[in-house]
Amino acid sequence: MYKLAPSILSADFSKLGEEVQLVSEAGCDYIHIDVMDGHYVPNITLGPLIIKSIRKFSDKVFDVHLMIEKPERFIKDFVDAGADIITVHEEASIHLHRTIQIIKSYGVKAGVSLNPATTLDCLKYVLIDLDMVLLMTVNPGFGGQSFIPGMIDKVRSLVKIREKEGLDFEIQVDGGVGLNNLVEVLEAGVDVVVAGSAIFGADDVIAAVKAFKAVE
Ligand code: DX5
Ligand code: ZN
Repeated sequence: MYKLAPSILSADFSKLGEEVQLVSEAGCDYIHIDVMDGHYVPNITLGPLIIKSIRKFSDKVFDVHLMIEKPERFIKDFVDAGADIITVHEEASIHLHRTIQIIKSYGVKAGVSLNPATTLDCLKYVLIDLDMVLLMTVNPGFGGQSFIPGMIDKVRSLVKIREKEGLDFEIQVDGGVGLNNLVEVLEAGVDVVVAGSAIFGADDVIAAVKAFKAVE
């Protein structure tokens, strides 16, 4: 069974706690939290203060996706705020290996994300250290964009590499996933599915979570 990670980027920020509680009680697995700095991506969202304030609304895994430049500067802040998994972008961290070790030194899980144009090769020497690889299936920065079809092949290639190397990191996709393409994504071998607008943009958020979880 795959894991569902609703992205709160599409939630109502005026009642974020309630929104997080709603999807948690509806049966999601992770809470996907998109942190954007206005530099690495052309959008600004939220930081550790907000994460800390919503932590009490859910006991699910807080999956923090950092779309910020030089993320190594803020890892401790996100750990203290309640992150369980911290994912950084390969393109945003100059010393990626060091950044991964910093994340792990706090006892939380480490993920690395790749933009659609970034090849898998850059992960070769760090894959062994990772708990998760996040393949972006849209260009990061905004919710509600269309899934880039070529990314299915990228997922399949990563599944093969994981098998060949005998590793067990989770493969996550993020961007443009809905009930229309969920089966295709899962068949490619994805373990964790992020969905923002398809969940929080739905008329009935609880029903949307249940509909996602009904697909295997
Ligand atoms: C985009 C974010 C995503 C976003 C996905 O940069 O990383 O998590 O919320 O939104 P949807 O599911 O609407 O494409
Ligand atoms: Zn994300």
